[in-house]
Amino acid sequence: MNNWVTHAIREINADYQRSADTHLIRLTLPAFPGIHIYLKDESTHPTGSLKHRLARSLFLYGLCNGWIKEGTTIIEASSGSTAVSEAYFARLLGLPFIAVMPACTAKRKIEQITFYGGRCHFVDSPCQIYDASETLARELNGHYMDQFTYAERATDWRGNNNIADSIFRQMANEPYSEPEYIVMSAGTGGTSATIGRYLRHQGHQTRLMVVDPENSVFLNYWRDGDNQRRSDTGSRIEGIGRPRVEPSFIPGVIDDMMRVPDCATIVAMQWLETVLGRKVGASTGTNMWGVLSLAAQMRDAGQTGSIVTLLCDSGERYLESYYNPEWVAASIGNLSEARQALQALLK
Ligand SMILES: Cc1ncc(COP(=O)(O)O)c(C=O)c1O
Repeated sequence: MNNWVTHAIREINADYQRSADTHLIRLTLPAFPGIHIYLKDESTHPTGSLKHRLARSLFLYGLCNGWIKEGTTIIEASSGSTAVSEAYFARLLGLPFIAVMPACTAKRKIEQITFYGGRCHFVDSPCQIYDASETLARELNGHYMDQFTYAERATDWRGNNNIADSIFRQMANEPYSEPEYIVMSAGTGGTSATIGRYLRHQGHQTRLMVVDPENSVFLNYWRDGDNQRRSDTGSRIEGIGRPRVEPSFIPGVIDDMMRVPDCATIVAMQWLETVLGRKVGASTGTNMWGVLSLAAQMRDAGQTGSIVTLLCDSGERYLESYYNPEWVAASIGNLSEARQALQALLK
């Protein structure tokens, strides 16, 4: 193998060796006696989100496949988080990096991409990121990383310290060590594919529930199998919910799906700050709404057990959007009904 490629793979592996695992936080909620809720805190990766894992895997996959060589320009279609993490790895390997993103992407993410030496190429709508990325890759003779296609296969789903493996190891000494549910939202669908396959491979009884925001086609596709579905409007919850069925979204590994209204996402996100003491991103709010709904169902059925979800990224990235009441009122809507629904879940 080419010297540079050998060196690049070694660099990424050494970076991994220097890294620590992410925490599994236990929440104590008086509203749900005997139901333990856990958050896998992916905001503590060096680049601030669960996408750090994916970016590492995609670079290794591209290097081992012979797609990434010395000097290759890396191009990625992203709603921002993946691009931040890929910019980090591109800088580690000394490769040029271009993120193709909707113009509405959070400013903080754009700043982080440029901090790591990446460039941003903006398109008007989330639906345009794919074609624009392909065109750029062709023009620059670069490599389109294409997380939406490769996320599900770049990660080793059998174990190898993937996110599911890590959750189960960290749950080992808990009163309910095998969760009733793991709840996750889908952007590429890569994380839910890894978790779902791992659960089956290991023979766990845990059910995978995927939560989907408004304007996303995933839930309907999961129900009816129509992969030609399109949504004209992009998701308002950054990082999750897609206007087309992404190849990395694997419906067969998902036991259940739930639509989470965007207002409910924001309310759950705000509420989580009051129990956690810090801000989380909006996709974590979507996850949390799913968790609270399931916990309420379990409570009402007299069940006990545990539920695990992901804290995907921190809220500091979204101070100007999801944490700005004027922005929320104008872009998401009136939260009062969702607040009442949350109170009903927490009764
Ligand atoms: C903040 C955030 N949450 C959740 C997800 C969904 O993860 P996945 O792409 O593995 O489905 C993403 C993906 O971009 C994200 O950026």
